Amino acid sequence: MYDHEYVLGIESTADEFGCAIVSRRGEILSNISDCYKPLTGGIHPREAAQHHSSAAARVVRKSLSSARITLDEVDAIAVSLGPGLGPCLRTGATIARALAAYYRKPLVPVNHSVAHIEIGRLTTGAEDPVIVYASGGNTIVSAYANRRYRVFGETLDIALGNAMDTFALKAGLGQPLIRNNVHIVELSAKKGSSFLELPYTVKGQDMSFSGLLTGALEKASSGTNLEDLCLSFVETCYSMLCEVSERALAHTRKSELLLTGGVAASDKLSRMMEGVAKEHSAVFRRVPAEYATDNGAMVAWTGLLSLTHGIQVPIEESEVRPRWRLDEAEVPWRTAQ
Ligand code: FE2
Repeated sequence: MYDHEYVLGIESTADEFGCAIVSRRGEILSNISDCYKPLTGGIHPREAAQHHSSAAARVVRKSLSSARITLDEVDAIAVSLGPGLGPCLRTGATIARALAAYYRKPLVPVNHSVAHIEIGRLTTGAEDPVIVYASGGNTIVSAYANRRYRVFGETLDIALGNAMDTFALKAGLGQPLIRNNVHIVELSAKKGSSFLELPYTVKGQDMSFSGLLTGALEKASSGTNLEDLCLSFVETCYSMLCEVSERALAHTRKSELLLTGGVAASDKLSRMMEGVAKEHSAVFRRVPAEYATDNGAMVAWTGLLSLTHGIQVPIEESEVRPRWRLDEAEVPWRTAQ
């Protein structure tokens, strides 16, 4: 074990460029983000990467000044090296390497999925939960066992958040996709009244959202009421995730259920997950909204946990890993608990 006081974390796996500083005691001293907003459609990886390189200096400076700390006082630079979009990851990694090299600090590699879990544990006090991690890029139900977060179920194709975003864009619901912290599909679903059958695909413990998306878009193009379609879409995809989560809880007999990732901002999904937890006498916990979407704090905190267990990477070996799976990352700090 090593003692380190402050870690600066950089997040740039998708549309968000974030920089945060955390302390060893788990205080989040700053958490600054700047989000790329596409003019049309979804994320264009190269445009997002361009946004990140333009925003980086301002965001890093603001993060340091909010935390009232200098780079010399920071013990290490942590960075999300994957999973994520190649161009975006490379931009964040380049900035982190430059800071680590210039200020002679250790560089700490962080798995983005592990970071979503660890910020959830830090901010909710969950100790050993079944974790439901749902976002625009990932949909994974996992739990800790033997040095890693083991995957109990995941999407076989697109992520839940991606399915919702794509449906909203292609069905003509308009942008922005998030209004008053609620996804536009969920907002529209509130006005729906009848449930329509859509493809519900759970295979073993895994989920597939692409059939649901295609089915819903076909119905949308044939003139089906859009509000009923949104209601059915949301009910179907959230129920799929609840089914898988419930089996993981039953199998592991863990006493906590943690919802994390961008889709954790959904009150509806949260209520459904709370119901699942209750059925199994488990405590439901949900990451606070400000740490649900991608952020630098989750990277800084996971970087600090990693660093205290000797994890760092030489700059010349710090390549990005766009397909770095959750269960490929070791989490030695959990063993010590
Ligand atoms: Fe994420």
